Amino acid sequence: EKPVTVQTLRRMKADGEKFITVALYDAPMAAMAQKTGVEAVLVGDSLGMTVLGYDSTIPVTMEQMIYHVEAVARGNRKSLIMGDMPFMTYATPEQALTNATRIMQAGAHMVKIEGGAWLAETVRMLTDRGIPVCAHLGLTPQSVHKLGGYRVQGRDEEQAGEILDDAAQLDEAGADLLVLECVPASLARRITDIVSMPTIGIGAGRDTDAQVLVINDILGLTETPPKFSKNFLEETGNIPGALRKYAEDVKNGIFPDASHTFE
Ligand code: KIV
Ligand code: NA
Repeated sequence: EKPVTVQTLRRMKADGEKFITVALYDAPMAAMAQKTGVEAVLVGDSLGMTVLGYDSTIPVTMEQMIYHVEAVARGNRKSLIMGDMPFMTYATPEQALTNATRIMQAGAHMVKIEGGAWLAETVRMLTDRGIPVCAHLGLTPQSVHKLGGYRVQGRDEEQAGEILDDAAQLDEAGADLLVLECVPASLARRITDIVSMPTIGIGAGRDTDAQVLVINDILGLTETPPKFSKNFLEETGNIPGALRKYAEDVKNGIFPDASHTFE
């Protein structure tokens, strides 16, 4: 089977076909995901919490990200692999270039960075040099201390306008994908309509071009799971079944429903 590329995902957006993303961290899960209808995998810096036991993503290092990107790449043949850039490794465009190079050389096909219009120059720097970029707006966990907690973003009109403007500027700068985390569904819909790049929602309603969930949440490993997630293992009883059900429910517009959504 043909590997999934940035072009595949753009074509799916154009055709109105949802694609499926899972944040995962190791070779066997990557091998399983590509067999169960998942198009893209994210080696998220959420691994700080889901795998390493920290209470935020802030302690995650380049070395930890590289170790897990390499593991996922070894298990994968087909999915598009995105690698998160950790806290403060892309504070300047030059730093971003140096560190993104290492993530790509570890086996990622794209890097992901958190932030708004201030990253437009960085997006240009990376994409001009052949490194695809996934942007990330809304709840950006690396900024948890600035945001004052893990809370829904863009609830008032002013903040919503800012996020919309950030999305437009990152799109214009050449970003290839956009993760929208914990924003009202109506805002995610407006952004998805105005940007040319595909959007991937988590806690952003059902109208984004794609969805992403963290493997720990899908498999019921999270002690206090977030409202937007769902344990698909409970109803299926096995890991491939859980991944397949998640993929099917997204493709059929069944997940997420109102109970997973902010308005
Ligand atoms: O680190 C991660 O898993 C993420 C997703 C939740 C989007 O950034
Ligand atoms: Na992340």
